[in-house]
Amino acid sequence: MGKRIVVVGTQWGDEGKGKITDYLAAGADVVVRSQGGNNAGHTIHFNHQKFALHFIPSGVFFPKTKNVMANGMVIEPNAFFQELDDLAARGVTGFRLFVSDRAHVIMPYHLDLDVLWETFKGPLAVGTTKKGIGPCYADKASRNGIRVGDLLDPEALALRLRASLSVTNPTLMSFGREPYDFDVLYQKYRALGDRLRPFVTDTSVLLNDEIDKGSRILFEGAQGIMLCLDHGTYPYVTSSSPTAASVPVNCGISPMAITDVVGVTKAYSTRVGGGAFPTEFEDAIAQGIRERGHEYGTTTGRPRRIGWIDAVVLRHSRRVSGVTDLAIMLLDVLTGVPELKICIAYDLDGTLLKEVPGNYLHFSRCRPVYITLPGWSEDLTGIRSWHELPPNAKRYLETIEQQTGLKIAIFSVGPDRSQTIDIKQFFE
Ligand code: IMP
Repeated sequence: MGKRIVVVGTQWGDEGKGKITDYLAAGADVVVRSQGGNNAGHTIHFNHQKFALHFIPSGVFFPKTKNVMANGMVIEPNAFFQELDDLAARGVTGFRLFVSDRAHVIMPYHLDLDVLWETFKGPLAVGTTKKGIGPCYADKASRNGIRVGDLLDPEALALRLRASLSVTNPTLMSFGREPYDFDVLYQKYRALGDRLRPFVTDTSVLLNDEIDKGSRILFEGAQGIMLCLDHGTYPYVTSSSPTAASVPVNCGISPMAITDVVGVTKAYSTRVGGGAFPTEFEDAIAQGIRERGHEYGTTTGRPRRIGWIDAVVLRHSRRVSGVTDLAIMLLDVLTGVPELKICIAYDLDGTLLKEVPGNYLHFSRCRPVYITLPGWSEDLTGIRSWHELPPNAKRYLETIEQQTGLKIAIFSVGPDRSQTIDIKQFFE
């Protein structure tokens, strides 16, 4: 039986999931994106070129791999085609890509509403990527959405667009905006539907066939568990669930189908956008980490906030997402930092917490309780096995294992594929 591995981010996104997925994709028959949209940005280094993928699964660099964008995703067709064109312009063509007929379409008014909601919330804004993700998922939940399959059927598109505009236009006008014209949008999205048609299929049927055949399948998580709509730092979260538990519903497969869950973490922490971040610090060391780790958003270019690694967050992610193995990214970035901190608990107004509190105001008052370990000065970028690691780096990683109860299966010491070192083989 081929394994069905889920890769999840265990922090606030940007953990390096794209690199791990790309690494594991070499052994996979199918790579699947199951949630989110182009709020995600996965950086992949291939043939000495750097690629930033937003919608497209990371398996596109392997011609035989099937790439699936499943029903739980939200897709903005113009940005989707732009990404395909960008890949083609750089010689990445001929890959196999399938888009679910049940994925939801990000419409232009979703982009407008994302900006308007953020603007009107003022200081309470979430700090979204402004890609229309939240309004699109909100329309899905309130039964006002348009699905990819609707774009292929003139009658379905007319019905769905009419229903959607009947609630969206009054909302836009209440914000002082012009309403959208039905005919203009209808013609535009019919044409986009025709362009999408060759990719569109029932991806649940496709994936279940692959499972029955014993194919090796990789589910590529987007964002991180702390951005989960249910288990993250609500309301400073995204609008879908990046947990492994969301994969079956977002793909139309059995929950029993998943065999492994690889939790990806940075050797430190980062966060973009608003929201509490207990281990955040800003000084020359943080700035050094930001520069060496290129900690600027792939999607928005915003500088990422920097923090120490947080074992409370990693334990939370392990629990809510059933993480079975840990992949530690960007270990080389910590070279030269004299002392490294690991947060092992929080102090909330004098009470010691071992878990992430559900109340956001409590979470924002949590002060980190650290253990401090000596750093290392050796360059790690040439290391290719666990045994070559300097003693202080080993000690750092072993302490993370102890604090999280998870074994490190993979660690990464640089952007190249050869700098990803696996201790455990996933796809044999
Ligand atoms: P949205 O997903 O655009 O609605 O943004 C909601 C929150 O999730 C914001 O804080 C974003 O910065 C954050 N976010 C969404 N996608 C990603 C991602 O792929 N990496 C990191 N942060 C993300």
